Formats: sequence, structure tokens, C-alpha cells
Amino acid sequence: MSDRVIVFDTTLRDGEQSPGATMDLNEKLRIARQLEALGVDVIEAGFPAASDGDFNAVKVIAETVSQAQVAGLARASAKDIDRAWEAVKNAKHPRIHTFIATSPIHMEFKLRKSPDEVLAMAVSAVKRAASYTDNVEFSAEDASRSDKDFLVRVFTACIDAGATTINIPDTVGYAQPDEFGQLIRYIIENVPNADKAVFSVHCHDDLGLAVANSLAAVRNGARQVEVCLSGIGERAGNASLEECVMALKLRPEYYGVECAINNEQLYPACHLLSMIIGRPIPANKAIIGSNAFAHESGIHQDGMLKNRDTYEIMSPQAVGRKTTDIVIGKHSGRNAVRTRLEELGYRLDYDQVNAVFAAMKELADRKAKIHDEDLEALVFSEVYRLRIPDRFRLGNICVQTSMGSNMPATAAVVLQDRDKEVRLAGFGTGPIDAAFNVISQICGTKAELEKFSVNAITGGTDAQGEVTVNLRDGKHAATGRGADPDIIVASAKAYIDALNRLEHKEKDVISYKQNPTE
Ligand code: KIV
Ligand code: ZN
Repeated sequence: MSDRVIVFDTTLRDGEQSPGATMDLNEKLRIARQLEALGVDVIEAGFPAASDGDFNAVKVIAETVSQAQVAGLARASAKDIDRAWEAVKNAKHPRIHTFIATSPIHMEFKLRKSPDEVLAMAVSAVKRAASYTDNVEFSAEDASRSDKDFLVRVFTACIDAGATTINIPDTVGYAQPDEFGQLIRYIIENVPNADKAVFSVHCHDDLGLAVANSLAAVRNGARQVEVCLSGIGERAGNASLEECVMALKLRPEYYGVECAINNEQLYPACHLLSMIIGRPIPANKAIIGSNAFAHESGIHQDGMLKNRDTYEIMSPQAVGRKTTDIVIGKHSGRNAVRTRLEELGYRLDYDQVNAVFAAMKELADRKAKIHDEDLEALVFSEVYRLRIPDRFRLGNICVQTSMGSNMPATAAVVLQDRDKEVRLAGFGTGPIDAAFNVISQICGTKAELEKFSVNAITGGTDAQGEVTVNLRDGKHAATGRGADPDIIVASAKAYIDALNRLEHKEKDVISYKQNPTE
């Protein structure tokens, strides 16, 4: 058995199924590039049959990525498989990933098929996929609640039909580590042609055991783990890539395997995802949370000063966290900014560096210390925002509130609607409500505010506030972000960013989640 664990990243497919984590094409492409820098073996780029938008994203990623394999997901139907192949066929290393459920509850109530019918569908799906490529993965959805001897039958037949990877998902996060490890061992020992395939696991985190189950599976012979950056994914999420990888890397004597991940890209990758989906990384999140390397208690601090190994099992640098705090200020030059951006993993062109540099100077007039996080926020507001021409731009905003009276808050907004400047004032229950009321009137939107969250990018009272706004207009949803030392301005920017994104939403979003079994 090989001692190499294949890292299969499904951030762009299962991860994107996480509520509020929808990404547009450019954002997916940016994540795909970062996943390549991270060294993942397989990028599951999406589910091509779900929508034209998904198809297009998988196709573009397949045509862009050169090192990693690019997988497209397909249900066990000819139509899905053909569509998946169309999307991935130009990749240097394409893979078709087809699946069907094998548990009694899914077969009876969702698929309304007998086990023999399911087996026949699985085999014919794998055969069709194998007629296109010799890189075919088959997944038995809800495997952990399936009959293990039925799984053995299905997997044996699928390998005979041409599957080269067999994936055993804990779809509903029900398995327990020992039990799941034993299931993997049982399958590998009982599938007669097991030596012709790589066995893989795909664990969900409903009981917080996704990483533990994935690692137990590796101990018992699995040689592919399906993971997502920061553990995002359907419901409670998938196994977190960074946690699985660091466990394997830090404990080689225990797992006896290696993986090809460039661990110094872990934090930049998770951070990029967090910026793109507008979801802050929780402070106590393993490996990447802001507290993961913070030592508060006196005893711990004393130990750390004497020898870092007393309380740190890995260094922050090992996972790509820079220790330098303040790097850039009012007097820094363009070169210093460009160098720091490169150290942070942003490879920008001349004009993009100039845009960040100009915005940094402006920010430095209002904020004494420019931290890495501030610079990154500027990259997002000044560079990545330019991915699509925005219709609306905030010109100016002024709000007034009075404490202890019945006077509502007022907001006056100057907004650029393409070439036209519009001015309007209005009221709200608080300053942010007033600002949003005025902006929505100017933009003529009926979009509903689904979520509003504020996060301080750095510490201190002059910290930039980072605001995330989720808007929904009918079936289209969009996430907007804005950063500014003034929280009202940050909120207005985030609201306008979400409105601009709604403007660009594809009209053809057919959600696979609403139609999983067709
Ligand atoms: O959770 C699951 O079972 C899946 C499959 C499609 C692999 O996401
Ligand atoms: Zn899943």
C-alpha cells in the first residue's frame, strides 16, 4: 500500500454548498490558483450539471490549473457524466467523480430504487465515465449508514467497471472514529480487487468528528482524504484541510504516511477564502484562528520564553502565519508595499500595486499603523473589486444620531450610479439602518438584508472595521464586503458591494441542493 495520502480539496464544490459561501467565477479561480500553490493533488471544481454557471467555472478552472487534477462531480446518470466530461476534458489531469447513495434510507426514500438497481446504475455510470478517462472516482453516498457487504459488492463491481478511486463518505457525519476506521479496513480487506483502486474518505462534521474520522480512516488504509479549507461545507461542514494535513505532517511516526502539501500556504489559503466568502475565521479555530498561537496565561508565557516547544507543537511560520506585526506606514514607499504584498502571497501587477499603494496612503492619513490585515483588506477593496465594473460607488456619507431622544437617526448619502451622481437623505432606527435605507432607495432595490456582521480587522480603537452584508433578491443572493476605520462607511461600502454583486449574478442558478436526486 502506498504511503502517500492524496489531498482532494472540495472547497469549490462541497464547500461552496455551505450557506452563504457562494463564489463567482473570478473568486473560484483565485481559490483554485491558491489551492495549486498549496499543492493539493485534486481540486473538485464544481458540479457541472448543476447550472451553466457551475459548468463554466469548472471548465475555466480545468483550463487554468496545470499541476493538480481537476474533478467534476456527476450523479450516476449519463447526462451528468457527459456534462462533467465536457467541463473537465481540457484539464491536464481530468477526473470524473460520480456518485449514488447506497444506504437503505437513501435508496428507499430518496432514490426509490432497489439495491440491485442502484448497483446497476453505479456500474453503468462508472463505465460511461471510464469511456472518457481512466481517472474515475466513484462515491457511495451515505456509505457509513450502508450495509458493509453491499458496499463490498458495489465497490468490487465499480472497480471492475473502471473506477480508480473508491470514496467512502460519512455523508451525514454519523460515524465514530473507531467504527469508521474498522469500516474502511473491512472494505479494503474484503474487496477482492482493492489493489486496483485508491480508497478515499469524505467526512462531514455534524458531530464535530470529520477530521478524527478522516484520520482514523488513514490509519486503516485510506489513501485519499476529501477536505475543505477551514472545514466549510454542507451543514456543519467537511473535514478541515489544514487540520488533517497538519496532523499527518506533525505525527508521521503515528500515521506512517506523507502528503505533498506546502504547509506554509495553509494560512494564506484559508485567509483568502475567508476574505472571499466574507466569513471571519473564528479566533479559536485550530491552526488558523487568531488565538491558535496566542499565549495568555503567565505560566504559559514563561514557558514560551524559555523554550517555545513547551506550549507550541508547531510554529506559526510553519502554517504561513507571519509574525511581523506593523510593516507599513505613512512614509513607506511603493516598493516596500509591493514586497510586503508578495510576502503575504499576493502577486499583483504594476497597476494593481499602485492602486493598493494609493489607498494605503489615504488610509495612513486616518490610521497610524497599517497592519498586514489592513493591506489585505485594501487588496480586496482596490484590486479584486475591480473584477467586474461596479455600477454603484459610494461618494460620501454623513450620519447623525442623538441619544436619549425620539429623534430617528439620519443619513445623507452621495452615490455614483455609473456616470450620474445621486444625493439623498433619509431616516432609520439607527445610523446603519438609516444609511442602508437611503442607499436602497437610491439604488431602487428590494433586496432583503439576510446577514450583517462586523469584525475588527486588527486590534486597537483605530482598527479597520470589516463588514459583511448578505443580500437576497428573489432567488439571487450576494455577499458584499467593506472595510474602513469608520464602521458606518465600512457598512455602506459592504452594502453597495453586495448590490453590485447582485447586479452581476447569473440568471441561471439552478440549485443542485433543491434537486439532488433527479
Ligand atoms: O457528502 C457526500 O456524500 C458527498 C458526495 C457527493 C461525495 O458530498
Ligand atoms: Zn459531502
